[in-house]
Amino acid sequence: MKNVVILISGRGSNMQAIVQARLPEVHIAAVISNRADAAGLAWAQEQGIATEALSHKDFPSREAFDAALAQIIDRYQPDLVVLAGFMRILSADFCRHYAGRMLNIHPSLLPAFTGLDTHERALAEGCKLAGCTVHFVTAELDHGPMVAQAAVPVLADDTADSLAARVLACEHRLYPQTVADFVAGCLHIENGKVINRRRPSDAAAYVLGQG
Ligand code: GRF
Repeated sequence: MKNVVILISGRGSNMQAIVQARLPEVHIAAVISNRADAAGLAWAQEQGIATEALSHKDFPSREAFDAALAQIIDRYQPDLVVLAGFMRILSADFCRHYAGRMLNIHPSLLPAFTGLDTHERALAEGCKLAGCTVHFVTAELDHGPMVAQAAVPVLADDTADSLAARVLACEHRLYPQTVADFVAGCLHIENGKVINRRRPSDAAAYVLGQG
């Protein structure tokens, strides 16, 4: 069994997708939030998963919060830390501590549209495809080695909300699959790029149901 700790800040639908996938060899050791009122935290508690809340507002600096957070995470001896809508910029020390064992999902086809408001920006640019990316976390925001991507079409009458919903459905398929690949030991970083030994074919095509 591999211990997986999931960090959230809000509704936690990606966290739920990972839990509900009941991945073999995965033990969801804890769900941790920087907001005690995160809806996802209550859901995880109902599932009998260990939960923790640690408010960043109780700490004088980003570094102090991150150090306290790492102490809590490490109590669960994580093989993998999964960021699932964890709305915090992470300090360099924190990223180094979990290097190669921390994943994030971002709602764009990176390297396009790092940061916030990805769907609004994709629509404003007239993009014909949008999507999501799972990547290893490094200190540079939304820039770590990419593991998998899934693409969806942008439709003529899309709003940011309708596009976000289409992308989110992809996230819920892509993230559990990526966690499974990590836990199975199939993800390797070579020269800053991720090789997936289990899934050499295009991950986006897989998610769109063609693989
Ligand atoms: C998702 O769109 C994810 O890509 C982004 O934050 C959102 C979190 O949603 N990082 P949820 O909390 O998993 O429902």
